[in-house]
Amino acid sequence: MSSFDETEAIYVRELGIDDIAPVYHLGEGLFTSDLYPYLYRTWDEWEVIGLYNTDPEYCLVAETDGELAGFILGTIITKASWTYGYILWLGVSPKFQRRGVADKLVDKVVARMIEDGARFMLVDTDPTNTSALKFFNRKGFGNIRQHIFLSMNLSKHEYYGRLIDYEHQKAERAGYRRLRPAIRARKPDSVANEVVLNPLAGESQTSEDQSST
Ligand SMILES: CC(C)(COP(=O)(O)OP(=O)(O)OC[C@H]1O[C@@H](n2cnc3c(N)ncnc32)[C@H](O)[C@@H]1OP(=O)(O)O)[C@@H](O)C(=O)NCCC(=O)NCCS
Repeated sequence: MSSFDETEAIYVRELGIDDIAPVYHLGEGLFTSDLYPYLYRTWDEWEVIGLYNTDPEYCLVAETDGELAGFILGTIITKASWTYGYILWLGVSPKFQRRGVADKLVDKVVARMIEDGARFMLVDTDPTNTSALKFFNRKGFGNIRQHIFLSMNLSKHEYYGRLIDYEHQKAERAGYRRLRPAIRARKPDSVANEVVLNPLAGESQTSEDQSST
């Protein structure tokens, strides 16, 4: 299923397997760490591959003269008697922006979602993403609700920082032992599979172990 508009020459079709890499790379250029750190962190090739596998009918690309102009990746959420259409990712190549590409992609995906029972649409983006906010406002999205993301630098945390140091030391010890396989004592499987519940508690014992090897 696809649509072709003679006047604007924007062709919208379903995303195919050969589009996965170009779509991922286009997104990489749009969701950058300096502009949108959260989008940057969550955008990877598995987003494209995963949604292509689970929701191919809501993964569309737009082409102009055979060139990838933009993409949209969405999904449907069903909760109680409600069916929500959720636009997860939308991106248009800078070269093709302000030419109605996103407009067409959104119209097409929403039409499909309505066909599949959606009566409510959701989308989210970075609060500083004014072009996207203007775009979605113009499309009829509103009722903005802020969602707060908190973060923590684990290395600077008193307890988690020590856990990180412990993991580093463990990795170093493992490397050290790997270099000397002849003297490495093989642990019985039952011991090797044990989960260390509180590695810090056993820290002193572990260093003694190491000094004795
Ligand atoms: C947001 C985005 C998808 C819009 O794509 P687009 O194809 O350029 O949008 P359209 O041409 O369909 O724009 C339709 C309308 O949206 C608004 N709009 C779009 N881009 C805008 C911008 N940079 N500044 C102000 N308004 C903008 C305008 O009202 C525009 O109509 P107009 O051109 O007649 O003024 C595109 O800028 C983009 O890819 N941004 C980076 C990725 C991103 O932020 N994705 C969304 C979150 S996942």
